[in-house]
Amino acid sequence: MKEIAPIIEVKNVNISFGKNHVLRNFSMDVIPGENLAILGKSGSGKSVLIKCIIRLLIPDSGKIIVINNEISELDHDEMDMLRADIGFLFQSNALYDSMTVRQNLEFPLRRHWSKEERKFNAKEAVLEALEDVGLSHTIDMMPAELSGGMRKRIALARTLILKPKVILYDEPTTGLDPITAREISQLMNAVQEKYKATAVIISHDMNCIKMTSDRVIMLIDGKNYASGTYDNLLKITDPKVREFFD
Ligand SMILES: Nc1ncnc2c1ncn2[C@@H]1O[C@H](COP(=O)(O)OP(=O)(O)O)[C@@H](O)[C@H]1O
Ligand SMILES: [Mg+2]
Repeated sequence: MKEIAPIIEVKNVNISFGKNHVLRNFSMDVIPGENLAILGKSGSGKSVLIKCIIRLLIPDSGKIIVINNEISELDHDEMDMLRADIGFLFQSNALYDSMTVRQNLEFPLRRHWSKEERKFNAKEAVLEALEDVGLSHTIDMMPAELSGGMRKRIALARTLILKPKVILYDEPTTGLDPITAREISQLMNAVQEKYKATAVIISHDMNCIKMTSDRVIMLIDGKNYASGTYDNLLKITDPKVREFFD
């Protein structure tokens, strides 16, 4: 059987901030269509890793290939084009407080769609994305009028509007109550079902990981310390792995 080429390859990445060596020869492959969770403690380098994938941070060494592009070789415009294929859901949501929900959703279109395209298709795209997250009625509301779970949904809708091939979720359920966290995890699965995108989910919420992931990578000591399905990892007796499950 022919092996499927990874959609993201991270090879021997190192990054330090002063004496803080965060990623230490970190490597991983992401398979097209999978929901991959990256599990690690707070401060272990999860956000740093996804920031490297979208080149918000530049590793000290190593290689990152995203949809067949070695990202360190792309110029500014090429990187911008690639970013249209990569949805990034920030932990903070990064919604614009002074804009309505509609304006927040239209924002990425300004950068990635022509004026013509926006004129004819923006309205429909906004409506579809809002429908995907079950919040059509909030279109004219301001972010401040929404609950934490609703803001997370709007941030996801804004990510979906460009129909990304890859969605990077940074702690999608952190700071939400357990019921809302569960709803967001269900929504992530529904989105996956509809768009068949590849998802990389950075989290330390075991419930979210259990519900959403096909495979889990454990980021421990800056390395890809262990990987497998959630159930595989449950069987590992190494104390550094165990402590996540106990
Ligand atoms: N821009 C930065 N400058 C200096 N240190 C940073 C920067 N970004 C992250 N770090 C440090 O890198 C480590 C990993 O951070 P991060 O990836 O945000 O952790 P988490 O796994 O909780 O997402 C932390 O010690 C953090 O302080
Ligand atoms: Mg983080």
